[in-house]
Amino acid sequence: MSGAEQAIALARVPVGVPVPEDFALITLAPRALEAGEVRVQAQYLSLDPYLRGVLSGRHMGHRCELGAVVPGAAVGRVVESRDPALQIGDTVIGEAGWRALPIMQKPRRWDIDAPVSTSLGVLGMPGLTAWAGVAQIAKPQPQETLVVSAAAGPVGASVGQLAQVRGARAVGIAGGAEKCALVKQQYGFADCIDYKRDDFAVALKHACPNGIDVYFDNVGGAVLEVCISMLALHARVVLCGLMDQYNQETRPKGPNLGPVIGARAMLKGLVVYDYYPQFDSFLSEMAPLVKSQQVRFVEDISVGIGQTPAAFCRLMRGENRGKTLVKLLDDYA
Ligand SMILES: NC(=O)c1ccc[n+]([C@@H]2O[C@H](COP(=O)([O-])OP(=O)(O)OC[C@H]3O[C@@H](n4cnc5c(N)ncnc54)[C@H](OP(=O)(O)O)[C@@H]3O)[C@@H](O)[C@H]2O)c1
Repeated sequence: MSGAEQAIALARVPVGVPVPEDFALITLAPRALEAGEVRVQAQYLSLDPYLRGVLSGRHMGHRCELGAVVPGAAVGRVVESRDPALQIGDTVIGEAGWRALPIMQKPRRWDIDAPVSTSLGVLGMPGLTAWAGVAQIAKPQPQETLVVSAAAGPVGASVGQLAQVRGARAVGIAGGAEKCALVKQQYGFADCIDYKRDDFAVALKHACPNGIDVYFDNVGGAVLEVCISMLALHARVVLCGLMDQYNQETRPKGPNLGPVIGARAMLKGLVVYDYYPQFDSFLSEMAPLVKSQQVRFVEDISVGIGQTPAAFCRLMRGENRGKTLVKLLDDYA
């Protein structure tokens, strides 16, 4: 059995934007594996916005109890196995928690020819979310305009690029000039508008002269309100995330959905869990696109488990640049 490991526990429920003091570095004693389990040496931890809801018990019935290890996905190598399908040395992705030696049940094996970190980003859950919204729900057509918010993040960046691969025109929305430049230069969007500008609505209208055919919403709030006022006839709106309210203690007032009716638009909620049965279809489109660099990705990597709380707090303040990861081990040879 392996030795003690470091982990990050929830010290108190965050109020508003999380701060590092909401978390505590702890040491976990080892326990023996049960049948079907594997012990994994985590290489990268995945930090994702939904975890903010888990910390306050607001994410689809999931709650992290005080003192418990913070949940989350990780990729790493199997170091001990009681699962006959997995060998020591296999690279796997699964629910791990913020810890160095997680115990996983039925993790997914990683055998794609791409950097292992992408298993948590562009070729993992955020990529699947983007693909579900683009390929399965909104189906942007050539010449159509797709707008996506949080465009500099792993979901938004993949949404715009998958739309452009299909011949649509992608317009991003992101906070600040630096993120907008990333969206245009690194991800090749036709345009990107800073939602913090005073003239945001005017600038977005200018970027979408024929209206918005597909709006992929990652944020809700004022940005959603502006976008639905610009919907084109037969627009599709994918409601994917609510960054605007994850750090709020009370629910903000809802947007005016009148224009949705006027545009005969269809709104559809997206829950990525529904699309895991189609993971192979997603990877068969996305992995070649990543390899040929038609789809690009940016990673925001902190090093060492002790950096995990600070990295998560930066994500929730919007200061991340690309997919947020914590690296625990050097890349495999
Ligand atoms: N439905 C599902 O199954 C599913 C699955 C995965 C992810 N999601 C959702 O997809 C969204 C994006 O996830 P991600 O991993 O790609 O995150 P991300 O883009 O790396 O991070 C979220 C970004 O949202 C922006 N933001 C924060 N508050 C905002 C506000 N009030 N208005 C506008 N933008 C705001 C911040 O960037 P700025 O600097 O631009 O503000 C922040 O960097 C999240 O809402 C997440 O919960 C949903």
